[in-house]
Amino acid sequence: MHKSIIQNFTLKFAENNWSRKNLLMALFENKELKDMYPNEIRRATIIGHIANEVLILNDKNDLCKILAIGDIAYFDDLKVQWQWLVNSSTKNIVPSKLQGYDLGGLWTIELRAKIVDYMGHYYDTSLLPTALEQEIIPSYGGTDSFVTILNTLKLLAQWSRINFIYPEASFLANVKIAELFLGEANCVKIPKPNPKDFFFSLEQIEELYDSPILNPLLEGDEVISLPSPSRRRAGDEVWEMDMNIFYITPVGNPTGNQIEQENLYQILTCIHALDPNAIFILDNVYVGLLSNAESRELFAQIFADLSIMQRIIFTESLSKTLGTTGIRLGWTWTLNQTFSNELKKYTTLTKAGFSKLLDEFTLHLLGNPDVFGFQDRVYEFWSHQRLSFLEHMKTHFSELFDFDSSPSIGDREGIYVLLKIQGNRSKEEIFALTGIVGVGITLSDGNYIRYAFGNVKEF
Ligand SMILES: Cc1ncc(COP(=O)(O)O)c(C=O)c1O
Repeated sequence: MHKSIIQNFTLKFAENNWSRKNLLMALFENKELKDMYPNEIRRATIIGHIANEVLILNDKNDLCKILAIGDIAYFDDLKVQWQWLVNSSTKNIVPSKLQGYDLGGLWTIELRAKIVDYMGHYYDTSLLPTALEQEIIPSYGGTDSFVTILNTLKLLAQWSRINFIYPEASFLANVKIAELFLGEANCVKIPKPNPKDFFFSLEQIEELYDSPILNPLLEGDEVISLPSPSRRRAGDEVWEMDMNIFYITPVGNPTGNQIEQENLYQILTCIHALDPNAIFILDNVYVGLLSNAESRELFAQIFADLSIMQRIIFTESLSKTLGTTGIRLGWTWTLNQTFSNELKKYTTLTKAGFSKLLDEFTLHLLGNPDVFGFQDRVYEFWSHQRLSFLEHMKTHFSELFDFDSSPSIGDREGIYVLLKIQGNRSKEEIFALTGIVGVGITLSDGNYIRYAFGNVKEF
């Protein structure tokens, strides 16, 4: 795919007697690759592969390990078991069930019920006041759900101005989507409050609503009063209300750990008290990876608070929890009937029904009782990879990273490790020195590298 780039760099490498570091520096500077891959995660992954091809062609065997993209692949006996799970699900597909449109446009009720069972393995759904089958809104994965949510809220907010507010350590691909649909000016990035905290603090939320940050005032502007949590200038276009959307990923990408339960609940209640109309998008695509006790605990208080629950839209996906990044399957749910109805309408309208193949396949996959034992083993494997990687970096490269200011890494909390770079070394330098390619991420207090463990078997 990148034949000419590889040829070109292979020649340069030999002619200039390059080191691995020179090669990586030059590849990250390469304009063609920058233009082709504006998404840093994909670019870093592709560069890792190109670098390895160039090194091999120059007879070097000191190749890079590529831990840049959060994709999923299984190895050894996990691979065998995954193949068996997929094959038995495929084998059980009933061809006549694939005919015609999915007229309801929201999957079969059988699949929605299976999805609710699946969520019961990580949430305590008995805390919820209603059965969820009718509330499951299908999508082709978390990204598709996110697009649906934003577009639906945009339609609902015709007379409002939308602000999309997120902690800076958020999944940047979704932030880019928000910038595209809502405009960069309406996306408010909140810097991390202190060296160890990658979420919001209560003080930051109070400041956000106290100060004109959601709608900056110029010096001398006359403030007019509106039934809105944010202030606006006289002469501004008059909207009925601001719609403030908070995007929160409780088990994080890129942080690789979970927000403390108390902290999450406190922040939600603080925002809700200041702004009862605020909407929370909880991106829970990694929550299923936690141990059952932890995931249940993380949401126990929230599920029991019906007033907060009315303001939350949950987004879930099998991409990471069940390795279906290539198959594409996710869903959204909310107890708020207005949001739910509008999300369903938007989905039915824009999808012309869902894939019956996917519906049938997933019904059989999730109906297989061995899925849960399989998942547990996968999560243990990832957990082991992350913890041994951390030990490896602490043992061999302690001078390169500020481990104390990096998010703490525990058992079974996602597939990432985020490490803060010590001093002013560049990410390419770190990649070259360690031989491990991750993704460079700049936060307000310094440069970090995110390493991903869903498709590697290195440690
Ligand atoms: C936080 C977060 N949300 C959503 C997604 C999208 O997942 P999907 O593959 O289901 O579209 C990802 C993927 O990396 C993610 O990290």
